Formats: sequence, C-alpha cells, structure tokens
Amino acid sequence: MNKHHASHQQLQLRHLQRITPQQLRAFEATARRLSVTRAAEELHVTQPTVSVQLRELASAIGEPLLETQGRRIRLTQTGELLQQTIGELTACWQRFESRVGQVHGLVSGRLRVAAVTTAEYFVPDLVGPFAAAHPGVDIELLVENRDRVVERLQRGQDDLAVMMLPPTSIPLDSVMILNNPLVVIAPADHPAVGKRIRLSSLANDRWLMRESGSGTRQVALAHFADLGFEPRIAMSLGSNEAIKHAVASGLGVAVLSELAVTSGLLDKRARPTKRAKGEKSTRGSHGLAILDVSHFPIRRQWSIVWRKDQPQSVAAQRFVSYLTQLHERDGIR
Ligand code: PGA
Repeated sequence: MNKHHASHQQLQLRHLQRITPQQLRAFEATARRLSVTRAAEELHVTQPTVSVQLRELASAIGEPLLETQGRRIRLTQTGELLQQTIGELTACWQRFESRVGQVHGLVSGRLRVAAVTTAEYFVPDLVGPFAAAHPGVDIELLVENRDRVVERLQRGQDDLAVMMLPPTSIPLDSVMILNNPLVVIAPADHPAVGKRIRLSSLANDRWLMRESGSGTRQVALAHFADLGFEPRIAMSLGSNEAIKHAVASGLGVAVLSELAVTSGLLDKRARPTKRAKGEKSTRGSHGLAILDVSHFPIRRQWSIVWRKDQPQSVAAQRFVSYLTQLHERDGIR
C-alpha cells in the first residue's frame, strides 16, 4: 500500500510513533505534581531525564505543554488537553486489558474498594479469598470514615464502597452483604453487666462517641433522638479502637458495631448471654462488656455500593457477584 492510500488511522499511529510511553509518564507525573523534581523522584529518574522527555514530547506535538509562572509551573491549554487525553488512554487501555482477560477467562485490572472504618474488621477477610482466586486483579482497599467515603463516591474515585448508610444524594446501586448490629459497650466491671437494663438507666454515664463524620455516631445519635434519650457526651474519639480502649479503661460507655467489639478486646465471659448468674466480671486489658440494654442492638446492615452512572469494570462486577454468592450461601447473619 503506498503512502497515498494509508488510512487516516495509520497516519495517526505514525504520528504517535514519535512519542514514547516514558515521555507520557514523565508528562503525566509532572502535570499531576506540578513539579519536575517531584515527578523525577516519583519515577526514580533524574530531573534532567524528565526535562529532556518533556522537551521531546513538546517538540513531537509541536506546541509547549508547560509554562513557568514565577517559580511555579503550570499547564498550557494544550498541556491540559494532553493530561486529559492520557487519562482517557489509560482508561481505554485498562478496558482493553480487561477484555483480553475475559477472552481468556481471566479477570484483570485494578479494583479500588473504599470501606468505612467499621468495616475494616471484615472486609479484608472477604477480599483475601477473592484476591487469591483472581491473581490478575490488583486490589486497593482504602479505609476511611463515612463522610470521607461519601466524598470519594461523589468524585467517583472508587469502583466500590462498603458502608452502612449509603448517601441518597448520589445515584447508587447496592447489595446488602452483612448484618451490622450496634451495641452498647461498657467496662467489664460496670454495675449493669449481666443485667437487662433500660437505656434511661445509663443517663448519668459518660458516653464516648466516634468523631463527627462517622456513620456509627450518626446512627447512634439518631437512635437516641428517636427515643428521646439525651446522653452525657464526655468525649469524641477518632477510631473504634480508641473507643474500645477508652471504655476498657473505665472512661465511659459507648455505642459500637458488634463486629468491632467482638474482634480482640472483648472478654467473652463478660458477654451478657454467656455470663453465669452472679459471676463477677473482670477488669483490665480484656475489660469490655456488651450491655443488654432496651432498644439495643440497633439493627443495621452493611452494603456494597457503586455509582450506577459509571460503567463497572469486570473486576468490580466479579467482586460484587462473589459477595452476593457468599451472602446467599451463608445468609445474612
Ligand atoms: P464509620 O462507619 O462509623 O466508621 O464511619 C460506619 C458506617 O457508615 O458504616
């Protein structure tokens, strides 16, 4: 085929031949960090290497991509277009790899899952067997509180999210995966341990709450408000573990996901159901008890959610169907 018959696509590809993947990586890192030095650090090459790659790329494209403003650099309009195009190319390439995988019956690609902090007690256990069965899938698990996970969903940063209270302001699909009862915990030597008590009898206790932005806090406060109960809030703490330790050392009582409590610190003998009548509770490093309180546990569930307005990767589809199968096999507990 002579030159005149070369298709438009071939011409475009020939033009692309002058551009190397290294140049695109150098540009992408520089555009993202807005610093040649930091891009070079990230790519483990020297700064002059990045500068040369950027210069060659600009000359292949025929237009400047970056401009300096004082000591800072910023993208030119063409630079911005190129940054966007690299994003599209990457997504396009990921789709290609995932389709190739499908042809061979393999699933590959990146799977990014955001989980609320309370879900960290079980999500890794679910991810483990899936990862072993899908070695081509590169899984990133990120743990944040509810508000952070909602922000990430808003920006479409993850393939999937695990949470108790999916926001209604974002178009989401969801599948329920596990029950998440929220219980009242107290130090193991609390006078109410082993008794059936009314919530109002805890009105003079000091309550330790999760930080604002936490779904656990939101559900607990809404539940108290529904019951007309006003807890004496003594302190807010930024993690489930901090709450567990503070309660165990006698600082107060709290509402937490049962799963967060039953992993680790719980003194099994201090569970109301397991406790023999009249048995004395113990205090110390294992000093937590779940109280048997009226209107508790608060019955909630964890769901896996994803944006319905964004295409779902094959890896994400597989993960959802794996969770659904588990859920159908073991039932929601
Ligand atoms: P969080 O999670 O309390 O860790 O934010 C609870 C939830 O929203 O599921």
